[in-house]
Amino acid sequence: MDSSTRASEPTSRQRPLRDGLGFFGRFLRNPMSVGAVLPSSRYLSRAMVGHLDLAAGELAVEYGPGTGPATQVIRELLPKHARYLGIELDPRFHKLLTERFPTMDFHHGSAGDLREILAERGLPKPARILSGLPFASLPPKVQDSIIEGIVWALKGTSGDFRTFQYVHAYGLRAARRFRAIMAERFDGFERIGPIVRNVPPAFVLRYWNAK
Ligand SMILES: C[S@@+](CC[C@H](N)C(=O)[O-])C[C@H]1O[C@@H](n2cnc3c(N)ncnc32)[C@H](O)[C@@H]1O
Repeated sequence: MDSSTRASEPTSRQRPLRDGLGFFGRFLRNPMSVGAVLPSSRYLSRAMVGHLDLAAGELAVEYGPGTGPATQVIRELLPKHARYLGIELDPRFHKLLTERFPTMDFHHGSAGDLREILAERGLPKPARILSGLPFASLPPKVQDSIIEGIVWALKGTSGDFRTFQYVHAYGLRAARRFRAIMAERFDGFERIGPIVRNVPPAFVLRYWNAK
């Protein structure tokens, strides 16, 4: 067991240190899929989540919540009667999330299986997709299946997709590949930042009008 799940839930003062250590442990085990050495800051999470103007019954999906920094912001901003589903690949993070946010739903699996996951749970297509996935370190096949799911969900709707990319990794081939494909599949694009109050600093990317 790692430090993120072994002990009882930390206090708000202990949580950043505990989460940081647990997160770093998961990074050492799975550097490509975890893709970061520390959880996102509140500043980056707030910029990534933006405004959650969802109607009753509409769904927000979060990809790769990790230890839940953006989930915390979503919980604060989610309108009453709107719905939420987090999809997390790492079993330790998934367990931590279900303990930390008992009123929210989390699926243990891959964001690449969005259609199947929604069908299995009887959920509608999401109106917002918020992603903490490390696209810059995901293999092309995984990137492609995740992008297909995002386009399928948002096509013909006013919904959007939001994610972040670290400034130091912005020029990497996989990060550029992701943005090039997204530019082909979406008419709307906005880049926010860099958000410097995060280690490391990151840009927030927003896409809408899926083609
Ligand atoms: C860069 S971390 C971000 C964690 C958190 N959102 C944050 O901002 O601190 C990436 C997260 O995505 C998860 N992940 C990676 N590939 C995934 C996939 N295919 N489906 C769902 N989650 C995935 C990792 O386990 C990890 O929790």
